[in-house]
Amino acid sequence: MSKSSEPMNRRDFLSKSAAAIAGSAVLPHTALSYEKIVGANDRISLGHIGIGNRGTELDQIASQLKTSHNVEMTAVCDLWKVNRDKAAATNESYYGRAPRAVQHLEDLLAMKDVDGVFISTPEHSHSPILKIVTEAGKDAYVEKPMGNVLSEVKASRDAVLQGKTIVQVGTQHRSEPYPTAAHEVVQSGALGDVSKIEIVWNYHGPRWRGREEVKEIREQDTDWTKWLMTKSARPFDPQLYFEFRLYKEFSSGIPDQWMSHGIDLVHWFMNDNFPKSAVAHGGVFAWHDGRENADTFEALLEYPKGFLVSYSTSFGNDAPSFTRYMGKKATLINIGGEGSPRYQVIQEKGTHEEDADIDTKREAKYILLHGEKLPPMSIDDLSLEHMGNWFDCMRSRKQPNATVQNGFAHSVACMMAAQSYWSGKKVFWDSATETIVDTPVTG
Ligand SMILES: NC(=O)c1ccc[n+]([C@@H]2O[C@H](COP(=O)([O-])OP(=O)(O)OC[C@H]3O[C@@H](n4cnc5c(N)ncnc54)[C@H](O)[C@@H]3O)[C@@H](O)[C@H]2O)c1
Repeated sequence: MSKSSEPMNRRDFLSKSAAAIAGSAVLPHTALSYEKIVGANDRISLGHIGIGNRGTELDQIASQLKTSHNVEMTAVCDLWKVNRDKAAATNESYYGRAPRAVQHLEDLLAMKDVDGVFISTPEHSHSPILKIVTEAGKDAYVEKPMGNVLSEVKASRDAVLQGKTIVQVGTQHRSEPYPTAAHEVVQSGALGDVSKIEIVWNYHGPRWRGREEVKEIREQDTDWTKWLMTKSARPFDPQLYFEFRLYKEFSSGIPDQWMSHGIDLVHWFMNDNFPKSAVAHGGVFAWHDGRENADTFEALLEYPKGFLVSYSTSFGNDAPSFTRYMGKKATLINIGGEGSPRYQVIQEKGTHEEDADIDTKREAKYILLHGEKLPPMSIDDLSLEHMGNWFDCMRSRKQPNATVQNGFAHSVACMMAAQSYWSGKKVFWDSATETIVDTPVTG
C-alpha cells in the first residue's frame, strides 16, 4: 500500500491542514480566509474534564480563540450535575451547538472525534487523569500543578513521552509577552551572575475557605468515590470537595497553588530545572479555621547552577508582593504578585554602606513592549496566548511552551518544599533515581 493511500488518523489530518493553511498564506486574506479553507473535519474537537472555577475560565479562553484557531468544545464532563449542566449551557452559548455532557471521564474519552482534553479537576487528580487521557490517545491541557504525588507525576510524564501526545501544562505565564521579554533579559546575561532570587507573594484573607458550592452540593448529584480518585474511602465531605486546597492529603496549599507558578518562571528564566535541596517552614498562624495547610509559608531552594531561591507567602498581611532576580550587574524586579506584567531592571552599582542614597543613582528601566505604557501590577488568569500555543502545537505536533518535563520539574520543587515542611527536615533531589531523599546527593 502506498503511503498516500494509508488511512489518515485525525492527528495527521489536523497537522496536514495546518501545512495547507501555512502554504496558502501568500494568498490575499479576503480571497481565502481561515474559515474558508478549514472545514468542519479539521476543526479541533475539544473535551473538558472538571469544569468548576478554573474550568469555566478555560472555556471562556477557548471560546475567544474559536475562530482564529478553529476549535469547538464538543464534550464536557463533570462529576457534579450542577457544574456539568452549567458548562453545557455556557459552551452552547459560545458555539451555537450543545456539547455532549457526561458524568464520567471514560465516556468522554471513548468519543473518537475528541482530539484534545482540558483537565481542570482538583490537583490530586491531575496526574492520574493526564495518564488516562494520554493512554486514550488524546492531547491534553492540564492545570498546574501537574501533580503532587511523585510516583503519579512520573507515571503521567512517562505516558505522555511514550504516547507522543501534545500536552500543555497550565503555567500560562510562560506564554505571556512580558514574562517572555523578562526571560530574554535574564538569558542575555544582562543581570550578571544571579546568586539569589526572592519571591514574596502576599494576600490578606482566609484564602481558599468559604466556597459557596459547599452549601449547594448534595452527595447524590455527584460521584464522591470518583472524586477521591486515588485516595482512600471516607464519608462525603463538601468542604474537602471544594476547599481541597486546605487539606494536606489533597493539596500542599501554597506550594501547589502559588509556588508552582513562581518556581516555574525561575526554572524557565534560569534554565535550571530541579532544586538540589529544599527546606521549608511555616504554619497556621493567621486563620484558625480548621485548615491543615499553612497560611504562612516560606521555602528555600538551592539550584545546581549556584543560586538560592526564597519563596514566601503570608495570608495574614497584604504587604507588597514582588519577585527579585539579584545579579552582580543588575536586579530584575517583577513588581506585584503572580503574573504581574510589570518588570524593571535596576543597575547594580555601589553599596548602601558607602552611599545611603545609592538607590537614587542606580539606572532603572521598565521592560516595555511595542511602545506600551507601564503595564499593570497584576493580571487575571484569562490570557489567551498559552491556550493558543497549545492549539498551534496540536496541529504542528511541536512541543508547547510548558511541556510535561517543565510540569514535572515544578511539581518536584513543590513536592520537595511540602515534604520538608511536613517532616521538618531538609530534603534533596536525586536526579539519577528521580527521588526525594534525606541526605545530600554527591557526584
Ligand atoms: N493556571 C491558573 O492560573 C489556575 C487558576 C486557578 C485554578 N487553577 C487550578 O485549577 C484546578 C481546579 O481548581 P478550581 O478552583 O477550578 O476547582 P473546582 O472545585 O471549582 O472545580 C473542579 C471541578 O472538577 C470536578 N471534578 C473533580 N474530579 C472530577 C473527575 N474525576 N471527573 C470529572 N469531574 C471532576 C468537580 O466536580 C468540580 O466541578 C486547581 O488544581 C488549580 O490549581 C489554575
